[in-house]
Amino acid sequence: MERLSSPHDMQQWANDQRRSGRTVAFVPTMGFFHPGHLQLMEYGRSRADRLVVSLFVNPLQFGPGEDFERYPRDEERDLALARGAGADVLFSPSPEDLYPVHFQTHVTVEKVSRGLCGASRPGHFRGVATVVLKLFHLVQPHWAIFGLKDYQQYVVIRRMVEDLNLDLEVVGRPTVREPDGLAMSSRNVYLSPEERRSALALSASLKAARERCRSGERRAAVLLEDVVRRISGEARARLDYARIVDPETLDDTDLIRDKAVLILAAWVGKTRLIDNGFLEGNPDCPA
Ligand code: PAF
Repeated sequence: MERLSSPHDMQQWANDQRRSGRTVAFVPTMGFFHPGHLQLMEYGRSRADRLVVSLFVNPLQFGPGEDFERYPRDEERDLALARGAGADVLFSPSPEDLYPVHFQTHVTVEKVSRGLCGASRPGHFRGVATVVLKLFHLVQPHWAIFGLKDYQQYVVIRRMVEDLNLDLEVVGRPTVREPDGLAMSSRNVYLSPEERRSALALSASLKAARERCRSGERRAAVLLEDVVRRISGEARARLDYARIVDPETLDDTDLIRDKAVLILAAWVGKTRLIDNGFLEGNPDCPA
């Protein structure tokens, strides 16, 4: 596995692959790998001739007072894990490499960035879209692979790729969970044992809503009432939002018909966690 940090070297490498007719799969990450990341890498490995993994904690997507400084980092461990998962390149630029002094160009994906996490984290998706577009230009992948735990991010990136006619396919892969249901996230390390127990209310409420929906309750308001009750009933948890939305437009759904995703965010102690689940439709082929 090669380790590249210069954007120029990354782009040269990608140009060489394209010239030789090799296909490239790309897994963008902020590091501190868990099995969810490794499954994305394994999928990428199986799909293409070459696999690139980027590791960059992107300052642009963190708001003031968020956890940019303390975001968990362990580059040496990540390096070994990416190598083990079959990556050909680990691309880890510095903030100065990606955002030189006079940097001033940003990407805004308008509507789908606005609500949900976009409302609680202003500027977050602008930071995500900007860095992801830059990474796409440097890595030039045929497939870019994202975890569906960050469902709104997935929708934002898909919208950007379509709107800007980028020549690549965005692939969403199912959320990987701990045996007790907690969605895997690098931020789970922040949780104390008590908070971790409270955090289970997120996946449990999704599961209960899915079961109720499958047994015939199609009114979003009724399902959401139960989610709010379950999460608010946890002493250490504070719900940020819970909504049932169309998987493509992220518009609210009142009555669940063919496709709907329940998407939520909650604070557990000082940690903000997100989760989502399909109530109807195929989560392997979400939008
Ligand atoms: O999902 C993430 O880890 C990040 O938002 C991403 C896509 C790597 C952009 O920084």
